[in-house]
Amino acid sequence: MESHHPAPILITGGARRIGLALARSFLQRDIPVIIAYRSDYPTLAELKQLGAICIQGDFSTHEGIYHFAGRVQQAAPKLRAIIHNASAWLAESSDMPPEQVMAAMLQIHVYTPYLLNQLLEQNLRGQGLAGADIIHLTDYVVEKGSDKHIAYAASKAALDNMTRSFARKLAPEVKVNAIAPSLILFNPGDDAAYRQQALQKSLMKIAPGENEVVNLVDYLLGSCYVTGRTHGVDGGRPLR
Ligand SMILES: NC(=O)c1ccc[n+]([C@@H]2O[C@H](COP(=O)([O-])OP(=O)(O)OC[C@H]3O[C@@H](n4cnc5c(N)ncnc54)[C@H](OP(=O)(O)O)[C@@H]3O)[C@@H](O)[C@H]2O)c1
Repeated sequence: MESHHPAPILITGGARRIGLALARSFLQRDIPVIIAYRSDYPTLAELKQLGAICIQGDFSTHEGIYHFAGRVQQAAPKLRAIIHNASAWLAESSDMPPEQVMAAMLQIHVYTPYLLNQLLEQNLRGQGLAGADIIHLTDYVVEKGSDKHIAYAASKAALDNMTRSFARKLAPEVKVNAIAPSLILFNPGDDAAYRQQALQKSLMKIAPGENEVVNLVDYLLGSCYVTGRTHGVDGGRPLR
């Protein structure tokens, strides 16, 4: 018998910042959500209270990714969307050998979405034309490169490229898009000088907050035609 429960949206890294804002915005509109979290946050209790299914997953190993995918399959036969938001912003530094930096960046930005998209393919398919979505959170540096975050930028560029490959593979059932933000919100430790310098990099000169991403995700989920594209949320930064 066909299920009449709407399929949930899976958000990786959903317990804080942009992932949390996405989760809250869906839950407030009674759209079911599964969030993947690694570390415990007080927000998890709030999300559970709002009805979210919270599944712990550490994507630092391939086994961790497989294990997490199995738990999602147990929790939900179908998914309305996967939002690949989990990320780490490692810089090249003397603290960690560069091959470890690159391995960590490839693990979270390439292997994790690459494996989850395939392991959960049947959960996405079978819901009609444009019935499901994959959204990759990438970064503005995909087009520009980054001298301090070389492995980060390269791994996000690979994720950006996979947007096109998965869009080709999964159409017309599943749309696949990338969102490439520039500065959305600061980290708590960012000092005034850094903030000032970062704000000057775009035309708009603001850190707009999570809603800019939430609004774009809503637009993509509402479309039945937009696929295989990278959507900048960058305050006109390429024009500076
Ligand atoms: N914020 C911005 O201004 C900005 C700018 C450009 C691009 N973006 C992109 O937008 C997305 C969201 O940004 P954000 O700043 O909200 O992210 P964030 O605060 O860095 O959160 C990322 C989440 O990913 C999780 N994560 C990292 N490595 C993981 C692993 N190995 N296994 C499982 N979970 C892991 C983290 O878990 P833990 O809490 O356990 O560490 C964290 O909750 C990211 O993809 C980011 O690259 C953001």
